Amino acid sequence: MIEKNIYKKNPYDLTNCKLLGKGHNGEVYLLPDGKVIKIGLNNKSFTGEYRILERVNGNKYFPKISEIGSNYMVRECVHGKILSKHIKKNGMDKNLACKIIDMLKEFEKIKFSKIDVRCKDIFIQEDGELKVIDPKKCYSRQRNFPRHLSKGLYKLKVLDYFLEVLEEYDSRLYKKWSRKINKYIKQREKLSEL
Ligand SMILES: Nc1ncnc2c1ncn2[C@@H]1O[C@H](COP(=O)(O)OP(=O)(O)O)[C@@H](O)[C@H]1O
Ligand SMILES: [Mg+2]
Repeated sequence: MIEKNIYKKNPYDLTNCKLLGKGHNGEVYLLPDGKVIKIGLNNKSFTGEYRILERVNGNKYFPKISEIGSNYMVRECVHGKILSKHIKKNGMDKNLACKIIDMLKEFEKIKFSKIDVRCKDIFIQEDGELKVIDPKKCYSRQRNFPRHLSKGLYKLKVLDYFLEVLEEYDSRLYKKWSRKINKYIKQREKLSEL
């Protein structure tokens, strides 16, 4: 159950709480009970984000949300390492590539219109499972292939390997995505953006 009252002001005293991270839209603090609180700095993106988390609540790829207030939300703390950092250190293996593909398949299953996520918003947990923090525009932006993710994997020099695994693991998605991904990467290279 999510306790929701969009008029309620933040009742938590954050003076002694550790600041876990700060993005463009919010500040995230660790609460004494081990959950995190995100204080929204931008009303529109705050509302967009809690609506997505409400909708996918209980899905294993996203932190569970327990409370929503006027400009704050309390959610499960995601532990582990940022995927891009993990890949930089350990590279990518078949198991990890398949985990990423399974996650993208889940996005299709739950009818996201944007089948994409940034590498820096994926966390790999100690047990190897993936979780996404900071989901954005998943039900509003139209994106039928993992563009941002591919760009991240390309920069980490593991995109070719990822596509190799994709071809073997899910030929339907390979057929659907590989041309679009390669075209996008070529365009970016031409613009010297990669
Ligand atoms: N559920 C969470 N568990 C642990 N850390 C989190 C969680 N949500 C956010 N963070 C940390 O806080 C930072 C900012 O949160 P984020 O949701 O990305 O804000 P913004 O929308 O402003 O980008 C993240 O980059 C991450 O380091
Ligand atoms: Mg962010």
